Amino acid sequence: MRVRKHANPFNFSKDKEKIQIDKVFHNPTNTLTLELGFAHGEYLLDRAKKEISNNFIGFEVREQLVEKVLKLAEKDKLTNVYVTHASSLVNIDIIPDNSVNEVIAFFCDPCFKTKHHKRRIINQKFLTEIKPKLKKDNTLYFQTDVQELYEATLNYINNDNDYEIITKEIVTGVPNKTGSTSWFEKRCLDNEWPIHRILFKLSSKSS
Ligand SMILES: C[S@@+](CC[C@H](N)C(=O)[O-])C[C@H]1O[C@@H](n2cnc3c(N)ncnc32)[C@H](O)[C@@H]1O
Repeated sequence: MRVRKHANPFNFSKDKEKIQIDKVFHNPTNTLTLELGFAHGEYLLDRAKKEISNNFIGFEVREQLVEKVLKLAEKDKLTNVYVTHASSLVNIDIIPDNSVNEVIAFFCDPCFKTKHHKRRIINQKFLTEIKPKLKKDNTLYFQTDVQELYEATLNYINNDNDYEIITKEIVTGVPNKTGSTSWFEKRCLDNEWPIHRILFKLSSKSS
């Protein structure tokens, strides 16, 4: 299957229906992880297989990849996975309020040009929009191999007083702490390229 390399993350309708957690998951009361930009789904599917008492929602802007991952999840009879053709820049609203325990944003496209910074998965606007969706017990986990994106993301987080950084690190050969690795992360680990990571959370004191 030839997969398009890019899709415009703004080219999405705002009118998508809200996700009905009690309809899409077998066990709707499970904790919930949201992965943004899951691509071929290696990370999301690996975690979903290992963590059967955690539900997973995935957003991906390339439709062929959504179809591919949906088929793989169906083949493995995973009842804790819901993947959708949605953009984190337009469709955060389809996530029910106060539902997400963990956000995963691994190796997001760096969008280097200043005029494209607004396309970044984690930016100032995203950090504002995701707040009502997060449960009190929450974490957001970010990884990149691009130093400039790491520094910009630290700035976005530090600019918003409602967030607290738990750990930040630049490491070589050390996998992330969730027990599964993404495709881009594995490539960094195999080649001993530095990985830039930020684990942070919405503070329980946030307004
Ligand atoms: C460089 S890949 C990383 C894939 C995977 N997370 C990994 O670590 O191997 C970034 C993915 O994010 C998707 N993407 C980019 N912007 C997005 C957005 N705003 N919402 C959802 N997915 C997005 C891209 O289509 C691409 O599949």
